[in-house]
Amino acid sequence: MKNYKNPDENGYYGEFGGAFIPEMLYPNVEELQQNYLKIIESQEFQMEFQDLLKNYVGRATPLYFAKNLSEKYHTKIYLKREDLNHTGAHKINNALGQALLAKKLGKKRIIAETGAGQHGVATATACALLGLECIVYMGEIDIARQAPNVARMKMLGATVIPATSGSKTLKDAVNEALRDWINNSNTTHYIIGSVVGPHPFPDLVARFQSVISEEIKWQLNEKIGRENPDFVIACVGGGSNAAGTFYHFVNEEKVKIIAAEAGGFGVESGKSAATTFLGTLGVLHGSKSLVMQTEDGQVIEPHSISAGLDYPGIGPFHANLFKEKRAEFFSINDDEALKFAFELTKLEGIIPALESAHALAVLKKKTFEKDDVVVICLSGRGDKDMETYLKNLD
Ligand SMILES: Cc1ncc(COP(=O)(O)O)c(C=O)c1O
Repeated sequence: MKNYKNPDENGYYGEFGGAFIPEMLYPNVEELQQNYLKIIESQEFQMEFQDLLKNYVGRATPLYFAKNLSEKYHTKIYLKREDLNHTGAHKINNALGQALLAKKLGKKRIIAETGAGQHGVATATACALLGLECIVYMGEIDIARQAPNVARMKMLGATVIPATSGSKTLKDAVNEALRDWINNSNTTHYIIGSVVGPHPFPDLVARFQSVISEEIKWQLNEKIGRENPDFVIACVGGGSNAAGTFYHFVNEEKVKIIAAEAGGFGVESGKSAATTFLGTLGVLHGSKSLVMQTEDGQVIEPHSISAGLDYPGIGPFHANLFKEKRAEFFSINDDEALKFAFELTKLEGIIPALESAHALAVLKKKTFEKDDVVVICLSGRGDKDMETYLKNLD
């Protein structure tokens, strides 16, 4: 089987990836490329990082057998409870890892982009803990729809700067963060929140998130006596929780991989964020991947009810899985995600993030055998989405 896990030395997963950056960023990105593996694989780094994951984040997160959901869908469903991490989502795994890395590189100023606010909160948290200055760029629309997370970032000491261009969502926040990085490259590290951006970010973020599938393996072994499930399912915005969930399974032929993208109002509606259905080869935010764009390369504004999936691109790791047909992609519309958020709440007493509800909705799109072991990544909790949920309560 091909190696789907890591990029080549130039940061390519098949034809996707690389580092397409302005000259001003060259020294920073090159410094990262030369040093990231050496630093993050060192014993000193790993001791500090593993200690924080265990004692600060609260890992390992449970792998929960969802009995009621399993009964309803006639299969064996396990939920990987990333919602139970400190700060409420998987984003903290990467934010802490990169903040530690930034310190080792001597950077004192951190910038980040955020959509749902979870990555912003995670980064602000890591910066408070490690004594780093923190600036978070966030689209104006996302600031309005994820207000609780904006308040948390501010309390944690971060400066939140609205991105007011384009669709005023995640893509525009990334643009602003990149602009800041170009102007402050000597002092600043950019903690990218997903498996996107120039090499080495997709690999760096995937490695920090790979703790998700590392734990699933031993947890399944403990519970059912085998390490590999039949299916792993995760939602994909840029693709970091999915990369973490798939990481230790992509090279295991027997494990089927399913990704859920945001269909918005429907892939044909003109208001969607389903990149593998609507995207073509292009360069966005520093790497070559699938991008929703017009024929002359203008980015098409995406739409999703969930701020974390409202992005017109997808990480090169996932573009390659799609192209090679190693993963099956489903597009989940806003109303389907909402329905599953309510269903999980009712059946299991767990209020999921809207993003994670997209992964759950695959249960309605695909038929599983009764003995299949299906692991779904519950990437985050739904507190930030309460306003949307309340508006949609029957
Ligand atoms: C809870 C949750 N899940 C998923 C995502 C999507 O990001 P990614 O595809 O990088 O996991 C986000 C992004 O903010 C999120 O907050």
